[in-house]
Amino acid sequence: PKKRLDHTPRLRALPHHHKFKTNRAPHPQKAPNVTFIINLFLLLYNKHEKKGLKQMKRVITYGTFDLLHYGHINLLKRAKALGDYLIVVVSSDEFNWNEKQKKCYFTYEQRKALVEAVRYVDLVIPETSWEQKRTDVHEYHVDTFVMGDDWKGKFDFLKEEGVEVVYLPRTPEISTTQIKNDLNKK
Ligand code: CTP
Repeated sequence: PKKRLDHTPRLRALPHHHKFKTNRAPHPQKAPNVTFIINLFLLLYNKHEKKGLKQMKRVITYGTFDLLHYGHINLLKRAKALGDYLIVVVSSDEFNWNEKQKKCYFTYEQRKALVEAVRYVDLVIPETSWEQKRTDVHEYHVDTFVMGDDWKGKFDFLKEEGVEVVYLPRTPEISTTQIKNDLNKK
């Protein structure tokens, strides 16, 4: 073969899947582009999420929920089925004693932990006054207020606040009082 006169390297055909090896740092333009695309995605995703939150139907219910029983679970299940997000306002020990003359077996913290563990419940907050319902429905952007029908008609004034008011039939033959009485007889 003819001897090459200059010293330029010979260009050989590359094998089909040859990859160029390079020690060069990635192109500096690439990093900001990737960040830009990720940020754009996050921005659009967050907007979508916020819209989702706004469209979420929020339901609220109030009660003592002492000695959690299947009547409570039934109520919570049906309350959640009326929307997407269920807030349960659990009476504080002071509220129970001062306003309802009820002494609970479980403390507020214990009742709260039990209600929080129910799969239908998204948030538990304390009930400390009768008046808070009017402000809670606005603070928590509530669409629907739910109670068992032992309270039928008692909270219709919340309709004035633009809230749907629903009374669900109580589950028959079970209550905290019933459990306490039955156990006392044994
Ligand atoms: N509830 C229900 N069915 C039952 C018992 C309670 O649907 N068998 C509902 C109530 O109507 C209320 C909520 O569960 O909306 C919380 O009720 P709460 O007063 O804490 O429970 P009770 O078992 O009714 O307690 P008590 O006997 O002390 O009144």
